[in-house]
Amino acid sequence: MSPSLPGGTWTLGDLTVTRFGYGAMQLAGPWVMGPPADHDGALAVLREAVELGITHIDTADAYGPRITNQLIREALHPYPESLRIATKVGAIRDERGGWPPARRPDDLRRAVHENLETLGLEVLDLVNLRLGNAEGPQPEPVAEAFETLVDLQRQGLIRHLGVSNATPEQITEAQAIAPIVCVQNMYNLAHRHDDELIDELAEKNIAYVPFFPLGGFTPLQSSALSAVAARLDTTPMSVALAWLLQRSPNILLIPGTSSTAHLRENIAGAGLSLGDEDLAELDKIAG
Ligand SMILES: NC(=O)c1ccc[n+]([C@@H]2O[C@H](COP(=O)([O-])OP(=O)(O)OC[C@H]3O[C@@H](n4cnc5c(N)ncnc54)[C@H](OP(=O)(O)O)[C@@H]3O)[C@@H](O)[C@H]2O)c1
Repeated sequence: MSPSLPGGTWTLGDLTVTRFGYGAMQLAGPWVMGPPADHDGALAVLREAVELGITHIDTADAYGPRITNQLIREALHPYPESLRIATKVGAIRDERGGWPPARRPDDLRRAVHENLETLGLEVLDLVNLRLGNAEGPQPEPVAEAFETLVDLQRQGLIRHLGVSNATPEQITEAQAIAPIVCVQNMYNLAHRHDDELIDELAEKNIAYVPFFPLGGFTPLQSSALSAVAARLDTTPMSVALAWLLQRSPNILLIPGTSSTAHLRENIAGAGLSLGDEDLAELDKIAG
């Protein structure tokens, strides 16, 4: 196992993870539905991630649905002692590939048990309550849903809780009920609505885990990003990941890829050091 991935480690509650993690969503089929075209290739990416020293994998039983969890189990079970798997509940899939909310107590209990079963675990390390919808966070109360997860945590089925796709108000509401160890929201070089939130969470020692760190289904593209990458003789994706690691110590990376070559490229790229001139140029991208 590699002792030093870029960014070092972070502690989620009492669980130490590498700040460079892996997001498993893209391992399912197109639009995160069905099995991957290359089953063995998907297993190879997961195994390589762990061999390269990654100890944080992000998933959800809605991916596929169930496919991504099953691939993780097939590739890595019995899991290495150091590996932490974070999952999400709060949305399911419909037959058209949509992500309808499923946040009633029964839905959440079912989803936690499904994650335990598909991942082959007795306890889930980290469960994020996924809020809002595909358009982003939406104002809605979270108490009933979050209390359901706290109850499952008290039953010993969940170690730590987080929230995802959440507004600052929802984060405050959840924290008044029980501690959270992370917030997983959309954030990247071009999408910085959570800047203030990231700094507030850092002060409270709560991790911020940006989803779509590379732009997700629409990869980041910008002339400033390309210019900085060209000057540093690297790729735009490397700059985007290095920028996130430098942005704040509480940021954990979970970039997705279905390619071992991209995985290795991303790990190498995230270790890049960006200077003041680069950062100033990249700030022009902020949206
Ligand atoms: N909480 C939520 O609501 C939510 C929503 C979305 C995602 N997530 C989580 O966030 C994780 C990351 O999001 P994501 O995977 O959708 O988006 P992402 O990490 O921003 O981007 C992944 C895309 O970038 C491409 N890519 C990766 N490395 C590359 C490289 N070096 N060069 C060129 N292309 C590269 C991948 O294609 P290749 O396969 O070809 O490498 C893939 O299409 C997911 O895996 C999931 O766990 C959470």
